Amino acid sequence: MSIAVASPQERLSERSMSTLEELYAETEAVNFTPGWVPRKKPVLYREPRPEFAPAHWRYDNAKAGLDAAGTLVDVALAERRNLIMRNPSPSADFETSRTLVCAYQMILPGEKAPSHRHSSHALRVIIEGKGSFSTVDGQKMPMETGDVVLTPGGCWHGHGHDGDQPAYWFDGLDVPLTQLLEPVFFDEHPDKYQKVERVVETSPYRFKRDAIAQRLDAVKPEVDGFYGRRVTLEAASMPTIGLVVERLDGGVQTRAYRTTANTVFHVMEGTGESQIGGQEFAWQRGDTFVAPCWNAISHKAQSDAQLFAMSDEPLLRFSKYYRMEPIA
Ligand SMILES: [Fe+2]
Repeated sequence: MSIAVASPQERLSERSMSTLEELYAETEAVNFTPGWVPRKKPVLYREPRPEFAPAHWRYDNAKAGLDAAGTLVDVALAERRNLIMRNPSPSADFETSRTLVCAYQMILPGEKAPSHRHSSHALRVIIEGKGSFSTVDGQKMPMETGDVVLTPGGCWHGHGHDGDQPAYWFDGLDVPLTQLLEPVFFDEHPDKYQKVERVVETSPYRFKRDAIAQRLDAVKPEVDGFYGRRVTLEAASMPTIGLVVERLDGGVQTRAYRTTANTVFHVMEGTGESQIGGQEFAWQRGDTFVAPCWNAISHKAQSDAQLFAMSDEPLLRFSKYYRMEPIA
């Protein structure tokens, strides 16, 4: 004999609910939530309310930490010797902004970091490196000071160092986005270090410092005053992240604007100050600062400067969520 057990849905339809309290209790029990009840965090609001904060990370602090880690952390065991730039907002666990995470990383002469691959797209900007290299899908390429090197999602990648001084770089990834959407995959390479199939000087994965500088020399200044001369680094294989390099001549002050994108600025050259969401950050070469969604952005270069900007702008444009407006 089988016993019929009423499902929660059947129970709800059979009950009479004469008070709101009964209605809330019964609907919550079957995984509904009343849409008319005010919530601690509203579902919709008039304009963005970014939970992440503008923040600034100094390279000299990172370098001191990494140099200490050089004697304490073995890169072959730790996989990566890096310091993550965690946003100071209480909403952050490890993230730099809602969709992006950045870190400073260091490798010592002779070290090799094991190869792996992950769904998240990644890139690095080399702060100090001579003789360091990345191996991306079997192609070994130099990563030297001022270069930008891409490791798109799904590509095997590792790195090593044939030089004689420690190498340091900035890492940027869209891991928080991958976690939010949930397609996280990660594999260690079965050989630990992927075999080098080819040694290349140029690659679609490498933007050399000199080539970036030549492109910046050739581009016309922006006329609206929001940006300096800018070039986009094309990275079709990692469409969630927009990469821009911007040159600001010493003394230039840009007009303030805000956008719905989350942008991380990394200082490739020069010194200056930026106002981000009302906070002033005085920066120098190697520093990083973040402008989360809808925070006003303006820069003043003290000396000739070059900023690398990575953002989720392509993702917002794809979604038709992108908005940019001047701040009066
Ligand atoms: Fe990686």
